[in-house]
Amino acid sequence: MLKGRHLIDIMDFSVEEMNEIFELAHEIILRREQFSHVCEGKLLATLFYEPSTRTRLSFESAMIRLGGKVIGFSDAGSSSVSKGESIADTIRVVGCYADIIAMRHPKEGAPKVASMYSPVPVINAGDGGHQHPTQTLADLLTIKSIKGTLSNLKIGCCGDLKFGRTVHSLIKAMSRYEGNSFVLISPKELKIPDYTRKEMDNKNIDYSETDNLEDIISSLDILYMTRVQKERFFNEEDYIRLRDSYILDKGKISRARKDMIVLHPLPRVNEISYEIDSDPRACYFKQVKYGMYVRMALMMKLLGIQ
Ligand code: CP
Repeated sequence: MLKGRHLIDIMDFSVEEMNEIFELAHEIILRREQFSHVCEGKLLATLFYEPSTRTRLSFESAMIRLGGKVIGFSDAGSSSVSKGESIADTIRVVGCYADIIAMRHPKEGAPKVASMYSPVPVINAGDGGHQHPTQTLADLLTIKSIKGTLSNLKIGCCGDLKFGRTVHSLIKAMSRYEGNSFVLISPKELKIPDYTRKEMDNKNIDYSETDNLEDIISSLDILYMTRVQKERFFNEEDYIRLRDSYILDKGKISRARKDMIVLHPLPRVNEISYEIDSDPRACYFKQVKYGMYVRMALMMKLLGIQ
């Protein structure tokens, strides 16, 4: 039963609950008109303390396409946060207006704190370098729709695995399905955090680490590219040195299987060359669309709408 629950970490939901969301998202894709009024009278608040294009607009378009309405801010400086209001007070107040809240924050754990004070469901729309569970739902729906399965896949995660929160959530989620393995491709400075590696070791997750994309691309079912997260670097020199560590171009993708798919949570900077966009394996814009449908399904479930 998902009604009234928060989504802070992808592990908050069981595999069965995630599958329920994917089934509803497929229903919505097939019969969109039937869902265009189901959230009439419902109000979503989007509280974005950090920049976003996809996540905020996909939440907002999802609610509007379900017949509901949206309030919120995309610049915390224009809210009373700038006067020093705490997250707890902001959430208690917004919970008096809205039926459901999506929150992005630069500090790890901020949406968790919000959920502790909120009278309505809180959805983590990305917290610092920590987790991004709704991107993961979008990623899994994309994989399931295109590959036809969420099991027995070899997934290469490439780029900034230290700060890239989407990868942390993706590994957690995909490792719950049978037979999946991971190749973690990054420069040594941007390897996955030790706490993530420890979790992977404790759960006996099948993974290997390398800094060489060309050597392993031919073995992958999925290549999940990520941007080097400029905003999380303390030192601009390090960012400039590392930002172009991996650039997927025609030469590199020519080594990949014909049925490999390329995903990216976006925004992209340099890491996927524009010449790849027309390759049938490039699925990152499909992934954007699945992101809206999965957020429609998620909000319906958390609001208890049948
Ligand atoms: N994928 C993602 O989180 O994109 P935005 O930062 O634009 O929301």
